[in-house]
Amino acid sequence: MRTISIATVSFVFCFVACGGDSSAPAQMPPAQTRAEPQTFAEQVTAGQKAYGDNCASCHGASGEGTANGPRVVGLDKGALSLDPPAGAQVRKAQFKTLADVAAFAVKNMPADRPGSLQEWEYWSILAFDLKANGVTLEKKLDLEVAKTIVLHP
Ligand code: HEC
Repeated sequence: MRTISIATVSFVFCFVACGGDSSAPAQMPPAQTRAEPQTFAEQVTAGQKAYGDNCASCHGASGEGTANGPRVVGLDKGALSLDPPAGAQVRKAQFKTLADVAAFAVKNMPADRPGSLQEWEYWSILAFDLKANGVTLEKKLDLEVAKTIVLHP
């Protein structure tokens, strides 16, 4: 009686545990999950996370700026101004179009480890920043599109 009882328990245990184990790998997210965004909307989503991880510590959670970095959201409040803000030490060039902002950010940002992100991550962050500034695009943001986005006519 005792032996049968243990065998039954083992069978039940394996039915639950082994079944759970063997199905786990199939539920792992595919490698493509972190692939490059293909649309402006996907860029905004990816950019929101990348901004939070890499830029918000100095530029603020909402791009409002902190003691460690200037405002990057709120064009009407002086964000991404045509001429470098007062006290700027790194920026020398004007921001006429979004391509000018991209060139600056890719080369110099994040300020504590410049150029450390993938190129598509910079474009995603700029898409997120555009959206935060009230601009939505019909197409994916890239260099050619950025040249057509005039910040200061
Ligand atoms: C360690 C702090 C820090 C981090 C992190 C950081 N920045 Fe900056 N950022 C600065 C500082 C300081 C400046 C001003 C540079 C200067 O003196 O011209 C700046 C300037 C900028 C400017 C130009 C603003 C203007 O009006 O001149 C942009 C755009 C920008 N950062 C984007 C980014 C992006 C995008 C990221 C994340 C990938 C990022 N920054 C991460 C500190 C930081």
